[in-house]
Amino acid sequence: MLKDKIEKILNRQVEREGYSSLLYLSMASWAETSGYPGIADWLYAQSNEELDHMLQFIHYINDRGGKAVIPGLETPPNEFEGIRPLFEAVLKHEQFISASINEIVTACIEEQDHTTNNWIQKFVSEQIEEESNVQEILDKLSLVGSQNLYMFDRDIMDMRNKGESTGIAE
Ligand code: FEO
Repeated sequence: MLKDKIEKILNRQVEREGYSSLLYLSMASWAETSGYPGIADWLYAQSNEELDHMLQFIHYINDRGGKAVIPGLETPPNEFEGIRPLFEAVLKHEQFISASINEIVTACIEEQDHTTNNWIQKFVSEQIEEESNVQEILDKLSLVGSQNLYMFDRDIMDMRNKGESTGIAE
């Protein structure tokens, strides 16, 4: 049985993963209509992964005797100033999610919920990988410069095709 404090903070994460999915969906749609099919592809896949994360939190809460709350979600921004600001926003958002996951770990330690602490560790590892993937994209972007966004877009498409994006198995 989940303690109230843990159930609450896990439900907060359901909302945050859901918002992440919507945010990347909005970015993907923007990229698709701005002539960047590779980046759109990457972002659509990212959005699906976030939806999967949300589902994992929902199932975990329910499996442990809690009650997952399906949230109404805030409308994400739907205009972006360019590719670099977009990926900078992705990195900032992932850093926010990492901090959020760390707060769950802290709550688990305080409440001595070793089971949830053990379960959440895959998300701790996932966040290291997600931040590093986005940083890698930003580094590539610095190398190619704004003149070669076409090449950059193809490059991102290759990254997806090689399956470099992360996914957490249940
Ligand atoms: Fe589900 Fe990108 O954190």
